[in-house]
Amino acid sequence: MVFRGVLIGCGFFARNQMAAWGDLPGAGIIGVCDRDPAKAKAYARDFGIPHWGTDASDMLATLRPDFVDIATTVESHRALVELAAQHTRLVICQKPFAETLEDAAAMVAACEARGVMLAVHENFRWQRPIREVKALLEAGAIGAPRWLRLSFRHGYDIYANQPYLAEVRDLALTDIGLHLFDMVRHLLGDATRLSCEVQKRNPRVAGFDAFQALIRHGSGAVSSVECSFHSVLSPDPFPESLLQIEGDDGTITVDEGFRLRLQRADGVEERGVEPPCPIWGAKPWHLIQDSVAAFQGQLPAALSGGAAMEPSGAHNLGTLAMVLGAIRAADTGATVTL
Ligand SMILES: NC(=O)c1ccc[n+]([C@@H]2O[C@H](COP(=O)([O-])OP(=O)(O)OC[C@H]3O[C@@H](n4cnc5c(N)ncnc54)[C@H](O)[C@@H]3O)[C@@H](O)[C@H]2O)c1
Repeated sequence: MVFRGVLIGCGFFARNQMAAWGDLPGAGIIGVCDRDPAKAKAYARDFGIPHWGTDASDMLATLRPDFVDIATTVESHRALVELAAQHTRLVICQKPFAETLEDAAAMVAACEARGVMLAVHENFRWQRPIREVKALLEAGAIGAPRWLRLSFRHGYDIYANQPYLAEVRDLALTDIGLHLFDMVRHLLGDATRLSCEVQKRNPRVAGFDAFQALIRHGSGAVSSVECSFHSVLSPDPFPESLLQIEGDDGTITVDEGFRLRLQRADGVEERGVEPPCPIWGAKPWHLIQDSVAAFQGQLPAALSGGAAMEPSGAHNLGTLAMVLGAIRAADTGATVTL
């Protein structure tokens, strides 16, 4: 193992991160930390990790890892990122990065002040279909992109694994909206203004579990981003993001079942873009699990002095501003300038 990491937060999702680190040549986890000792111990046992603990400060001071992977929920991020910045060279923080721009900017500043790299675990842009669409756009396959619709609608019981979501006021925007906004920024560039409508669809949850945002990008492109956690669909496409993107010379669609279609005046090309299921994975989560591995796969190059991991904490400030802007737009009915 070349680069040694510590993971903080041994909960539901980080099992994917641990399994993906286990597959990555050149990097690995040497210590796991959770304030609940039973969870830290279980991770150490399940993944064969030599060190486990309940106090991140102690563990980081002792192990001095090359990188720290923070997989806790949002309210703990600022304190943990600021702590990690004192003990390591690269910090990864799960999404949502922060609840406020103030906290997010403070984390970026704390890392910059020490010359520490900071990335946000925005794995959706690393999903195989999105990587394929991005490559087509960069190759000029449809000319300049002008319009995009991105849709994440399903009825999968997300509350079984993440019960805390049922209590969050703006759960659709803060849980998946930020992934979707990161994806549209990645494909169409930064946004300049947006409007948004939210809905409460599921009577069993406290917050808004659906939204639709209309976004203007700096390039002049327009995107419509929609999300619902309470749609009755058969087959249910969870966790696929479906999209249509239109350029001057063609259109790309990604339909349910990982079907990518490139439509141009000279014909239509269609191919499957389903990612492989990791050996430790399970369908339908393989789309997410493969994207976690792709995101984390950037780390050895970043720590070797190559390209920084994407997206960075600084880049994610713009995505967080979109989420907070969308909440404001939905509350007031106004169009928000970013
Ligand atoms: N990128 C994705 O695709 C994706 C998918 C699911 C969840 N997530 C995100 O992952 C994060 C974690 O979600 P989860 O469902 O695994 O939550 P979880 O509650 O199951 O796990 C979080 C763990 O962090 C621990 N923890 C909290 N504060 C700590 C601290 N200061 N020190 C040590 N341990 C601490 C908790 O005890 C808990 O075990 C959330 O922010 C969620 O939005 C991301």
